[in-house]
Amino acid sequence: MTGSPAGAEASERRAILDGERLAGNGIYLRLVELADCGERYRTWLGDPEVNRFLETRWAEHDDWAIREFVSAMRMSLSDYLFAIVEAGGGRHVGNIKLGAINWRHLHADISYFIGEHDAWGRGVATEAIRVATRFAFERLGLHRVQAVVYADNSGSATALERAGYAREGVARLKVRIGDGWTDQLAYGMLRPESVSSDPA
Ligand SMILES: CC(C)(COP(=O)(O)OP(=O)(O)OC[C@H]1O[C@@H](n2cnc3c(N)ncnc32)[C@H](O)[C@@H]1OP(=O)(O)O)[C@@H](O)C(=O)NCCC(=O)NCCS
Repeated sequence: MTGSPAGAEASERRAILDGERLAGNGIYLRLVELADCGERYRTWLGDPEVNRFLETRWAEHDDWAIREFVSAMRMSLSDYLFAIVEAGGGRHVGNIKLGAINWRHLHADISYFIGEHDAWGRGVATEAIRVATRFAFERLGLHRVQAVVYADNSGSATALERAGYAREGVARLKVRIGDGWTDQLAYGMLRPESVSSDPA
């Protein structure tokens, strides 16, 4: 946080404060801090196995750029960037972001990566999606959260489905992969109260 009056005001209006943990099964979420912006974070973003399906792969991410991004997320009233931390041992293994939030329509995008390969396939992303989505509905009062996934990214699609998201559509050959294009899948989850009041 910058320490400026504007920064202090923004921090007071956010729905979670530094140090608070959002508990999940085997993991917890907390806000990403400037202290997290080190070599490990840079390595994750530059790892071709991690960034293969991420839009972050199009740019270089040096420490300065990472700190700028994290600072902006910490100041924003429309984004929440969480660290995904293993409950036993406290290792930071990846990030999950809610945002940008559309406060008129009360919906938000969700995106995530698990940077540590040895944490893959253990339900970490599924649980992080569940916890962040609960935060969106219960603490932010949103009524919908949505994600897009490259069709080849079956691990991410499975994690969303396990967390309760419905596949809502396919945008054909929308995104580049290697020398060609692939489909992009759209997922969404509605707050349970919104589903029961759906006129359809
Ligand atoms: C894709 C990703 C988020 C999955 O995270 P994860 O913590 O391994 O996911 P989960 O363990 O919750 O997996 C959900 C399911 O998908 C499976 N799965 C995970 N990675 C997989 C892969 N690469 N291929 C096929 N299945 C996979 C898991 O085994 C699990 O199924 P199971 O319970 O039957 O074993 C993680 O590998 C990652 O961060 N990759 C790089 C960044 C990325 O692609 N982010 C998502 C952009 S939309």
